[in-house]
Amino acid sequence: MAILFDKQTSRWLLQGKNVSYGLGVDKNGTLQHLYFGSKLPFVSDLPDVNTAIYHSSFEPSGGITQPEYPAWGGMYYYEPCLKATFSDHVRDTRLVYKEHQITENEQVDELVIVLQDTVYPLFVHLHYRLFPEHDVIERYAVIENTGTTPITLEQALSGSWHTPRGDRYRLTHLGGKWIEETQIYQDEITPGKKTLESRRGNTGAQANPWFAIDRGTADEDQGEVWFGALGWSGNWKITVEYNPFKLLQVSGGIHDFDFAWHLEGGKSFQTPAFVGGYTRLGFGQASRNFHDYQRNHVLPKPIAEQVRPVLYNSWEATYFDVTEQGQMALAERAAAIGVELFVVDDGWFGERHHDRAGLGDWTVNPVKFPNGLKPLIDKVESLGMRFGIWVEPEMVNPDSDLYRKNPDWIYHFPNRPRTESRNQCVLNVSKPEVQEFIFKMLDDLLSENNIDFIKWDMNRSFSEPGWPDAPQAIQKEIWVRHVQGLYDILARLRAKHPKVAFESCSGGGARIDLGIMRLTDEVWTSDNTEPYERLFIQEGYSLAYNAQTMMCWVADSAKWVKNRPAPVAYRFHSSMMGSLGIGGNLTQWSEEELAESTQLIEEYKSIRHIVQKGNQYRLLSPRKGNTTAVQYVTHDQSESVLFALMHPQKFQNPSPRIYLRGLKSDSLYKVTDIEEPISGSALMNRGIDVNLHADLASKLLKIREVK
Ligand code: GLA
Repeated sequence: MAILFDKQTSRWLLQGKNVSYGLGVDKNGTLQHLYFGSKLPFVSDLPDVNTAIYHSSFEPSGGITQPEYPAWGGMYYYEPCLKATFSDHVRDTRLVYKEHQITENEQVDELVIVLQDTVYPLFVHLHYRLFPEHDVIERYAVIENTGTTPITLEQALSGSWHTPRGDRYRLTHLGGKWIEETQIYQDEITPGKKTLESRRGNTGAQANPWFAIDRGTADEDQGEVWFGALGWSGNWKITVEYNPFKLLQVSGGIHDFDFAWHLEGGKSFQTPAFVGGYTRLGFGQASRNFHDYQRNHVLPKPIAEQVRPVLYNSWEATYFDVTEQGQMALAERAAAIGVELFVVDDGWFGERHHDRAGLGDWTVNPVKFPNGLKPLIDKVESLGMRFGIWVEPEMVNPDSDLYRKNPDWIYHFPNRPRTESRNQCVLNVSKPEVQEFIFKMLDDLLSENNIDFIKWDMNRSFSEPGWPDAPQAIQKEIWVRHVQGLYDILARLRAKHPKVAFESCSGGGARIDLGIMRLTDEVWTSDNTEPYERLFIQEGYSLAYNAQTMMCWVADSAKWVKNRPAPVAYRFHSSMMGSLGIGGNLTQWSEEELAESTQLIEEYKSIRHIVQKGNQYRLLSPRKGNTTAVQYVTHDQSESVLFALMHPQKFQNPSPRIYLRGLKSDSLYKVTDIEEPISGSALMNRGIDVNLHADLASKLLKIREVK
C-alpha cells in the first residue's frame, strides 16, 4: 500500500520506492504540506501539523506554515493557487478539508483530497497520482462550482511544491530563444519571487516549464534535488518564492495574466498536471527517474514502446521549392543511406512558394504534385520507407483562400491592428468551427493518403488575443481554450489514426512540455542543428526530457548558424544522442560523405535501443572543459554506449579521463578499441581515456557485458 492515512492525526503519507510525501490537516481545517524527501516508514514519522507560531500582526500563519493549495483570502500574502470572485463580488476564499479518497491501481495509486470554501459552493479536488517506481507524483486540481451562480476564477494553479525550511537553495531552470533553446541557468535563491513564464500563447523557447531545486551543492551524482514540470502548452507560470521564514514554495500552472475563467454553476475546471519528484542522488538521477516516468506514463502507447525510426526531412534541402521530382530524388538518396521515414516539410500545399502565402490552404499544389501525393508516397514506400508530412494547422497567411473566406477566424480586436509575424496570423482555435476545420483537414489528409507521421508546427507567438464575437464573460478564456482545442484535435486524430506518429515543433523547440508529450511522440528540439552548439541545447533538454523524444538532425545548418565545418562523424555523434534524423541536402553530399553516413546510420540502429530507452548519464558537460561525454546504459546494465566529443580547441590540452557510470561492478565488459574485457568497476573508477586531440574530434564507444 503506497498511500497511508492516519485518521487520528489527519495525516497522509504517500510512498514511492525511495521517497515519501506527507500532508496533514491543521486545527483550522487547512491542508498543510508536511514533507517531501527520503522515504519514511510510518505516518507517525511526519512532523506535527500544528506548528504555526504567532509572529506579529503583519504575519499570518500562512507565511510560517506551508499551505498545500493556498487560496487568496484572509491574511495570505504569498503566491496563491486559487483566486476567485463570487457572483456577489466577494473576493475572499477560505478552503478547508472536507473528505478524501484513496484508490489503488496496478501502476498508479491515487489520493484525492477535497477542500471546500467555508461559505460558498466552491470545491477543490486535489489529485495526487503516485508512480512509486519512478518516485514521481502528478498533481492537478479540479475546481468545482456546485452552486447556481457563476464564479470567476482569476488564478487557478495546479499546485505548489515545498522544500523544508532551509538556506542556500538554488534554482536550476531552462531558457533561451529560437536556435538557443533549453539552456541551463542556475541561480541562488534569495528572498522574493522569481517567475518563469510564457505569455505568448504557447510553451515558448524563452523558458521551459521545468525546474529543479537543490541545496546549492548537488551535482550529477549526489545531493538532494526537488524537481518538477508542468504539462501545459499555453500561457504558464512557475513561481519560485522564498519567504522571510525561509520557506520555499514553487507554484505552477496556467498563467493568471489576462486570465479569467467563467465557472458556471454545476461546472468544473481542471488544471493541467504539475509533476514533481525528489531524489538524494543528484541531477543525474532526477533526470533518469523523470525520463522513465515519461516513457512509461506520458508518451502515447503503443508508439512509445517502439524505437523511433531514422527520419529524413526535406526542409533544409529544398525549403519551399518542393516538387515531386525533387522529393523523389531526395528519397532515393535517403533510402540508400538507411533512412526509414521520409518527411516532406513546408511548401507542398496551396500557393506556398514562400512564407508570404498559402498557410491555411491545405490542398496539394497541383503544379508541384500534378497527380497528388500518391506517386511520391508510392515511391517512398517502394524504397522501403514510411512517409510523413509537415503541417502548421493553427496558422493562416492573410494571402490565402482560407483568410479571404473567414477573416474573423483569427484572434483580433476591433480597432486594433492584426499584427503579422512571418506574414501569418494565429487562427482562433478557441472557436469550435475552427477546431472542426483543422480536424477535418487533417482527418482527410490522413484518410486519403498513406501517411505515418505528422510534423505539427507553430511558427509565431500570439498577439491581439481577442475573440470579439464571443460572450464577454469568456473572452479571456482564449488562452486556455486554444490549448484545450489543440489537445482535443490531437486526441481525436490519434484515436482515429492510431498508427500515425506526431512531432511537436514550434519554430524549433518552442512547444516542448509534458502536456504536448501526452499527445505527440517526439519534439523538434531546435532549428539549430550546428553540431557543437547542439550539445548545449541537448544537455539542457536532457535535464528534463528523455532522449527518445529529442529529435536531432544531421543537417547543413552549420552553414547558416555558424560557418564552422564539422567532420561527418562529429555531426552524427552529436545527433545520435537522441532520435536521429537527417536534414541536409543529400543531393549535395559527396559519395564519401554518403558512404560514411550509411555506416553511421547502421551503427545508430545497433545502439538506438540503448540511447532511446536506456539510462542516461551526463559525464562531461559542454559547459565545462574541452570535451562533452554522455553515456547511455540499458536498464539491465548489459549494454552501454559512450559518446565523447571534443570542442573547438586551444592550447592542445588532451581530453580528460572519462569515468563511466551505471555498470555492474563485478561484470566484465568488452569496450570498442580495448582488447581485453575489463570490469564495470574499472570502467567506473579507473576510467578510460578516449584520446581526442583535434577540434571537433569525436568517438563512439560500445560497451557490452561479456557473459
Ligand atoms: C519551422 C520549423 C522548421 C521548418 C519550417 C518550415 O521553422 O522549425 O523545421 O519546418 O518551420 O516553414
